[in-house]
Amino acid sequence: MKLSPALESAFNEQIHLEFESVYAYLQMAADLDSQSWSGFSTWMHGQSQEEWMHANKFTQFVLQRGNQVQLRGIGDPAAGLGSPLAAFERALEHERKVSQAIHALYAKAVAENDYASLPLLQWFVNEQVEEEDTVGRIVDRLRLVGNDNTGLMILDRELGQRPAASAAGPAA
Ligand code: FEO
Repeated sequence: MKLSPALESAFNEQIHLEFESVYAYLQMAADLDSQSWSGFSTWMHGQSQEEWMHANKFTQFVLQRGNQVQLRGIGDPAAGLGSPLAAFERALEHERKVSQAIHALYAKAVAENDYASLPLLQWFVNEQVEEEDTVGRIVDRLRLVGNDNTGLMILDRELGQRPAASAAGPAA
């Protein structure tokens, strides 16, 4: 059964937001790398890859339902963040925005009794809890470290251990 035109449009909006996320994290990765924060940059690269998988997960679902995917242009991401803390604060703000968008999409699907959308959307609701928690903890730790360069170097090394996202994507 196809998505209604309103839901098709809402899913396409979400696909757009996920691709915007790919770009936002790539920019943060580049900004951090340009300051030689290699580990923080690696973490942002990993996050960007994860966003790519999110966008594709939504894309596959819309196509499976027999609907159309319409990609749109992506605007310039914010650049030139001054510090790792500023970058991760921006990331947290971004993840909260994504969570709100997913919740709004879930509410639309419920309002239309589109039960086939709910397992996928519930997966994303859970994913967002995890993403906000992960980024929020990094922000907390960066605030604790403050301007202590030794502490920042330790965190940079630790976050640089993030493995590249699996090509297979997140399990449903
Ligand atoms: Fe796909 Fe981090 O939201």
